[in-house]
Amino acid sequence: MVSWCDAENFTMKITSIKGFADILPGEVESWQRVEAAARRVFSAYNFAEIRIPILEKTELFSRSIGESTDIVEKEMYTFEDREGRGGEGDGTKLTLRPEGTAGVVRAYVEAEMYKVEPVRKFYYMGAMFRRERPQKGRMRQFHQIGAEALGRGDPLIDAEVLLLLHDFLRAVGLAEPSLQLNSLGCAQCRPSYRKKLLAFLRQRHSELCGNCQRRIERNPLRALDCKEPGCVHATQDAPSILDSLCAVCRDHFAAVQRLLRETGVEFTLNPRMVRGLDYYCRTTFEWTTALLGSQSAVAAGGRYDGLVEQLGGPAIPGVGFALGVERLTMLLRLREAAPAQAPALFIVWLGDQARDWAFPVVHRLRRAGLSVEMEGESRSMKSQMRRADKFNAAAVLIVGADELAKGSAILRDMASKQQREISLANIESELMARKAN
Ligand code: HAM
Repeated sequence: MVSWCDAENFTMKITSIKGFADILPGEVESWQRVEAAARRVFSAYNFAEIRIPILEKTELFSRSIGESTDIVEKEMYTFEDREGRGGEGDGTKLTLRPEGTAGVVRAYVEAEMYKVEPVRKFYYMGAMFRRERPQKGRMRQFHQIGAEALGRGDPLIDAEVLLLLHDFLRAVGLAEPSLQLNSLGCAQCRPSYRKKLLAFLRQRHSELCGNCQRRIERNPLRALDCKEPGCVHATQDAPSILDSLCAVCRDHFAAVQRLLRETGVEFTLNPRMVRGLDYYCRTTFEWTTALLGSQSAVAAGGRYDGLVEQLGGPAIPGVGFALGVERLTMLLRLREAAPAQAPALFIVWLGDQARDWAFPVVHRLRRAGLSVEMEGESRSMKSQMRRADKFNAAAVLIVGADELAKGSAILRDMASKQQREISLANIESELMARKAN
């Protein structure tokens, strides 16, 4: 008789998709540290968590991020919903979210949150999807921690969002990412800058790469961001947007800079910084590091005053950022490995009587908040000690029939190798005292 697992199809190894990674124990601890720090710092700034769907209608992203951006043109995971009952059912195009801002704004507009109170501060954490060429620091499924402040157009909130990010990076122990700041102007002043830049680029058309040649008429600012050597050279003397800002944008940007200086946040102005998403206006920024090679942006964001209206809400301003968790944890791992999860105690039991004693004790200790582990099958002391070692247990308690009869057992500290006898009746307080030290 051939069993189902003998058939070749069932035994072939299935691998993960290119650019989609597992985050395994050993690595996941630094993710947890980052997430815990984010919750702490974001709450201090009065940002509330929001959870939005991973799948949205494609139109949400094409309308907000922009039709001519790399993300919308070529990087989205888009498919048609099936016909029939369930889902949208009408062939609507759906997309795995490539970023979080559009979804947060959609949720804000859909729930009409602004009717109760327009000023809302949100944060989110989760997976995003972009079909980019995977490389170090660039994944197809990656994770962002983002913050969005809606309802305020004042420069204080721009500075607050930047301070939040600054404090968060320090809370996780990262001081090296540096802040680059720019202003992209507004609907009043950007068109005239765009015209000026386009005229400049048309004169250098032949020096630009194919991609830029194709898109300068629609989106000339992207040429400033192009990494192709020809484009970098051709745009070296391009007019600066900072010289074209209207008085309102100039004042706003000057106030943001002053507030950052007053609160000790260092930055450099980078008038060539153009974000890869179309919804930005005024303040834009990137926190970059030289330690991650070409994928240098750890976090990025800016102001998006037209987006709420563009997505069907009233004219309500917004500003926010997102940081890449893969990039952040890579930086943290360059520094030091976060301690891996390990039990505080491993109970080595010898004989059925000791097993029957140990099982409820392990559960009592776990309920008291201690991480405790035990073997499920009868094994030699040597083999149980080996497992405790593999699990990196901080201490081992060795219990057999003699120990139960005496009411005490040997507690062995696995790091110092020191042993001492403890009373089995006081095991919980003994372990709690060890945890406190
Ligand atoms: P973004 O610059 O496209 O902005 O992405 C923000 C951050 O996400 C990047 O700085 C980077 O750390 C990370 N990231 C982006 N793509 C990848 C990738 N393929 N692999 C790994 N990490 C990646 C936004 O997404 C905006 N929604 C930010 C924002 C929020 N603006 C205002 N509010």
